Amino acid sequence: MTTYRLASIPGDGIGVDVTVEARKVLDRAAARFGFSLEWNEFDWSCERYAQLGAMMPEDGVAQLSAYDGILLGAVGFPGVPDHVSLWGLLIPLRRAFQQYVNLRPVRLLPGTTSVLAGRKAEELELVIVRENSEGEYSAIGGRHNAGRPDEFVVQESVFTRVGVERIIRYAFELARTRSSRVCSATKSNGLIHSMPFWDEIFAEVAADFPDVHSEQMHVDALAARMVQAPDRLDVVVASNLFGDILSDLAAAITGGLGMAPSGNINPSGESPSMFEAVHGSAPDIAGQGIANPVAQILAAAMLVEHLGETVAAQAIRAAVDRVLDEGRVRTPDLGGTDTTERLGTAVAEALG
Ligand code: NAD
Ligand code: IPM
Ligand code: MN
Repeated sequence: MTTYRLASIPGDGIGVDVTVEARKVLDRAAARFGFSLEWNEFDWSCERYAQLGAMMPEDGVAQLSAYDGILLGAVGFPGVPDHVSLWGLLIPLRRAFQQYVNLRPVRLLPGTTSVLAGRKAEELELVIVRENSEGEYSAIGGRHNAGRPDEFVVQESVFTRVGVERIIRYAFELARTRSSRVCSATKSNGLIHSMPFWDEIFAEVAADFPDVHSEQMHVDALAARMVQAPDRLDVVVASNLFGDILSDLAAAITGGLGMAPSGNINPSGESPSMFEAVHGSAPDIAGQGIANPVAQILAAAMLVEHLGETVAAQAIRAAVDRVLDEGRVRTPDLGGTDTTERLGTAVAEALG
């Protein structure tokens, strides 16, 4: 029997609650589909920061590097500034492990309260391929003339040819396995250095994939299309920031933040990939046991799929669909009154 070594970092807020449920479902899937999971849990979080002054130990990356995969809850909580907590854990891990693809698939799930809930499921199935290692997320810049009337800040973006090309290429390869359509999101009318560079590389890569339909859109217009004509989109490739924003929008139209999974992927397989919900630690509902665990359960399905356990991944997704379709167990975001634990257990039981 294959044994996978997995690291779990529940993190902060509802990250803790939903990760318990995702592990429950994965353990059930492992038992059912004939593989085994060896878990190690890491208490890296804002709580750790408050006690020890760091989100993770100095050798945190080295500690994680031997694992087959990482399941991350969410990071960030009031009391620790977001730029400290996120640049102390999530962002350095994505970079250290060269997880340059942030894959964020969404599809219209049964029983959701989306504004587009009336649509047919096949109209609303798309994937955001978000650049995950550079771009607008940059520590370069600074504050000048502090305290003076002419005070200003500079926030630099860094787009490398290698970084842009590899994410666009990944999107085209992925499109070949789906509907053969790629749409690139930029803002070349406003950002006159980075985005025209991205467009140029997009056109070059597109020329290598004549069988894939390619399109470029301004990200603002693309946001509108995503709501009004989502059936015209399939693979959407975007920079770090645009991909971040578009993925919350995509989540909202397909069922809400409680339902959208994500994978931080190192396509070479040389370092572990890391799976998490698209959502954050939701301090507004933390500690109440009412967060929707579906996003994290679907992220766990992406994790086992990444490990090659495709049948188990599909079974998890089918179990989620069955439970949502029945509609007996619903957390408050889905219009019900059930707990995180109840919904997680329902999905685990639906696995048989
Ligand atoms: P958020 O995603 O945590 O919450 C946004 C809204 O969606 C809230 O009203 C929340 O209650 C709701 N929501 C989110 N997940 C839900 C779920 N599973 N079930 C039901 N409702 C859910 O975004 P935010 O409020 O902007 O961020 C809160 C904290 O999380 C911040 O510190 C932020 O930096 C951090 N964050 C971390 C990650 C991550 O670790 N990957 C991602 C996003 C935000
Ligand atoms: C996400 C989050 C993070 C991001 C934040 C918390 C830094 O919003 O994973 O979507 O923007 O990458
Ligand atoms: Mn986000």
